[in-house]
Amino acid sequence: MSLPVVVCISGASGSIYGVNLLKALSQLNIKSILVVSTMGFVTAKEELGITAKELISMADEYHDNSNLAANISSGSYITAGVVVAPCSVKTLSSIANCYNDNLITRVSDVSLKERRKTILLFREAPLHNGHISLMQQASNSGCIIMPPVPAFYNKPKTINDIVNHSVFRVLDLLGIENDLVSRWN
Ligand SMILES: Cc1cc2nc3c(=O)[nH]c(=O)nc-3n(C[C@H](O)[C@H](O)[C@H](O)COP(=O)(O)O)c2cc1C
Repeated sequence: MSLPVVVCISGASGSIYGVNLLKALSQLNIKSILVVSTMGFVTAKEELGITAKELISMADEYHDNSNLAANISSGSYITAGVVVAPCSVKTLSSIANCYNDNLITRVSDVSLKERRKTILLFREAPLHNGHISLMQQASNSGCIIMPPVPAFYNKPKTINDIVNHSVFRVLDLLGIENDLVSRWN
């Protein structure tokens, strides 16, 4: 039985990455635990037209971002890791600085201290030195910085093709076997 995966959706553009990760975990029968920031709900509505209720229903378990007493707030609750998809500048900054005032930052910090996979699909462009320093700081603490950069060698035809390529690489990083997209060989 695979361990649950914590999926955090912050307010950067690209909530589809978090949504498609939830769908992939469901297909693979892996428990998903969802946390969404206030702006994560706003971008999901703006970009995908989905309501907070619809987004929450895609996960097996959901916790409010303000609930620092949630089970996943403790390292004693074992998970496969945390994926912040997408990760905003603000959330990257909080994680890099261990500023654990919401559940997304707290679960990421817990995942790092427990030496579990902590994957940030950081999205901003262009980048200034402050962003680059934060990525380095987060990486030094153990985060995997994985900007959702599209690949074209697999000849994507739809937005889902492009998004799922990154989702499939996230599953690989978590050590979850999948055949979501075909591999280059
Ligand atoms: C439509 C939309 C797109 C946004 N895209 C980004 C983005 O790509 N990267 C980013 O860092 N912030 C982006 N923002 C701004 C964040 O939502 C904002 O900085 C917020 O404070 C992030 O908070 P959170 O990390 O708690 O979700 C966007 C906001 C909106 C409304």
